This record gives sequence, C-alpha cells and structure tokens, in this order.
Amino acid sequence: MEKSLQRCVLLVTLTLFCFSIPVSLSVPFVVFHGFLGACSDNKVSNLTKSLRNLSGYPGSCVEIGNGQVDSLLMPLRQQASIACEKIRQMPELSEGYNIVAESQGNMVARGLIEFCDNAPPVFNYVSLGGPHAGVAVVPNCTESFCSVLKALFPFVYNDLVQDHAGPSGFVKVPTKITEYLEHSKYLPKLNNERPAEKNSTFKERFTSLKNLVLIMFQKDTVLIPRETSWFGYYPDGAFSPVLPHQKTKLYTEDWIGLKTLDDAGKVKFLSVPGGHIEITEEELLKYVVPYLQNDSTLSSDHEAM
Ligand SMILES: *[C@@H]1O[C@H](CO)[C@@H](O)[C@H](O)[C@H]1NC(C)=O
Ligand SMILES: *[C@@H]1O[C@H](CO)[C@@H](O)[C@H](O)[C@H]1NC(C)=O
Ligand SMILES: *[C@@H]1O[C@H](CO)[C@@H](O)[C@H](O)[C@H]1NC(C)=O
Ligand SMILES: *[C@@H]1O[C@H](CO)[C@@H](O)[C@H](O)[C@H]1NC(C)=O
Ligand SMILES: *[C@@H]1O[C@H](CO)[C@@H](O)[C@H](O)[C@H]1NC(C)=O
Repeated sequence: MEKSLQRCVLLVTLTLFCFSIPVSLSVPFVVFHGFLGACSDNKVSNLTKSLRNLSGYPGSCVEIGNGQVDSLLMPLRQQASIACEKIRQMPELSEGYNIVAESQGNMVARGLIEFCDNAPPVFNYVSLGGPHAGVAVVPNCTESFCSVLKALFPFVYNDLVQDHAGPSGFVKVPTKITEYLEHSKYLPKLNNERPAEKNSTFKERFTSLKNLVLIMFQKDTVLIPRETSWFGYYPDGAFSPVLPHQKTKLYTEDWIGLKTLDDAGKVKFLSVPGGHIEITEEELLKYVVPYLQNDSTLSSDHEAM
C-alpha cells in the first residue's frame, strides 16, 4: 500500500516534471532598439520577427517612451529606468530572460542589468554594435539632426546637453577625460569608472550573466572607434591607438566584471563584415539565435532547487 502510494507520487511528480519543464524553460527574449529607432519601424520589427521565427522562442521589442524622439532627447538614465519599470511589469519575464540590443539600446540594456533593483535575471545578453566604452566623435552623417549633434558636440559635458540629448550619455572624448568623469551623467557610472564611486552591486549583476555576446561590425563608421563594441577604446589623453579591450583599465582592473566573465569563458567577442547593425539572417542564425534557444543554461539552477 505504502509502496504503491510512493510509486504514484513518483509518477505524478515525473509527469509534472516532464510536462512543466519545456514550458517553464522557454526563456523569452527582449529587443532594445538604437538611436532614432522605434519598435514599430520596419527594421526593428523585422529583426524582432526574424529572431522569433529563427529561434522559435517568444520575444518582443520593449519601447522606451515614444520611440524615435525619446531615443534622441531623453537622458539614458531615464531610458534605463523606464526599461526597468517595464520589465518588472512583464509577467512572462519573471523567471528570467535574454536580451538582444542594438547600438544605443545597449546603454539601456546595460543600465537595466546593472541598475534595476528587484528585476528578474538576465541570462544571455547579445550586443549588436554597442558603444560600451564610449564614442569619441559624432560620426559623419547627412541627416538634419547630425548638424545639431555636431554643433552641440563642443558642449557635450554641459548639464543642459547631458539632460536633453540621449547619446551625450556615452560620449567619451579622450582629450577631455577630466570633464567626462566630472560631468558625464551616464557612462562613467555604468562602467564603474569613477574611482570613488565604484558600486560592487553593478559589477555583481553584470557578472551574473551566463553569456555576454559582443558583436562588432567591421565596417562600422558610426561608432568611433568601432572596437568600443568589444569594450576597446582610446587611451586617456589621445585619439590613438585604440587599446584592445584586454588592455583597458576597465578590463584589467575588472571594474564591471568583464574580466571575470571572460576568464570564465562567458564572453564571446565576435565580428561580422557589415556596416553598423548590418546583420544578415545567416549571421543571426549563427551568432545570435543559439543564445536565445539554449535552455540548458538554466538547467543547473533548476536541478539545484
Ligand atoms: C516570420 O514567419 C512568418 C510565418 O512563417 C512569415 O510570414 C514572416 O514573413 C516571417 N518574418 C520574418 C521577418 O522572417
Ligand atoms: C568624415 O568626413 C571628413 C570629410 O569628408 C573626413 O575627413 C573624415 O575622415 C570623416 N570621418 C570619419 C570618421 O569617417
Ligand atoms: C550601489 O547600487 C545599489 C543598487 O542600485 C544601491 O542600492 C546601493 O546603495 C549603491 N551603493 C553605493 C555605495 O552607492
Ligand atoms: C529582415 O531581416 C532579415 C535578417 O536580418 C534580413 O535578411 C531581411 O533582409 C530583412 N528584411 C527586410 C524587409 O528588411
Ligand atoms: C548550450 O548548452 C551547452 C550545454 O550546456 C553548452 O555546452 C553550450 O556552450 C551552450 N551554448 C550556448 C550558445 O550557450
């Protein structure tokens, strides 16, 4: 009698296990678009749909404010805080999720990972052309807003610019490091760059990623230098040479855990031939989709429970 009861309990448990696991392990992803993008524009919605189609996993683009205009005018700390608020309110993400971010969207994604309290865990984070270590100049471009950005550039560390131009949050002029550290309102905090203000919580959170996939675009002329996609950057005080990520202090002194993650084999430094955020379906399949599908990244946690 007791034995059959035990067997029955075992059977029920196994059945629940078998049927519930595939559902609960279907980790969803979210997409953060770049500067002047919007979840509803063709390029971003095509990327989100392609990733859903190719991976077979659920995912959506998370919009910050009204899209294009706010990506330009809203300071990044506010964009990140809106992302934090939204993610906490999405029940489908409550067990954890993966992120794919484009360009400036990586500043939002990393703000979310590092600054957001009481948020669900991020497992894999795939960064497409992210200005992780900063950008040094306004890129050559013809759109009307470019002339505005160029005109504002000499004043980039002015509070008014910092508070009203999203991209100013990740401008790091190598010859203006003192001003940058004193007046930039976003990147120095995100990268734990200020000696007196390093926050170990930001580092712990970033280090908890299962995989960090950093994709650089070989013909990128928007991010200067393009190596910023891998956390490479100019040395303080000069516009050359570009230091590879392993030679930067952020890495050697492990300000945010990049070295810890790398030593653990969790960082993939990848590059593709295209221009800024020009990625083909084949490249998505090869470099992005595996990190959206791999539920095994979760299994050790579940077994431990
Ligand atoms: C995704 O799959 C649907 C259905 O097969 C198809 O209609 C759509 O064109 C695909 N979209 C993309 C962006 O691949
Ligand atoms: C931008 O254009 C100017 C003039 O054509 C050129 O001298 C400069 O090298 C370009 N900068 C970049 C980063 O491509
Ligand atoms: C570090 O960041 C966490 C999370 O935002 C915050 O709770 C904590 O007060 C910060 N610590 C310091 C020393 O600023
Ligand atoms: C949609 O995205 C895929 C993968 O990036 C790309 O191959 C395809 O050309 C895109 N289609 C459109 C209409 O942009
Ligand atoms: C997927 O999981 C397997 C088994 O744990 C692991 O060997 C592999 O590296 C993972 N791949 C990715 C892309 O996370």
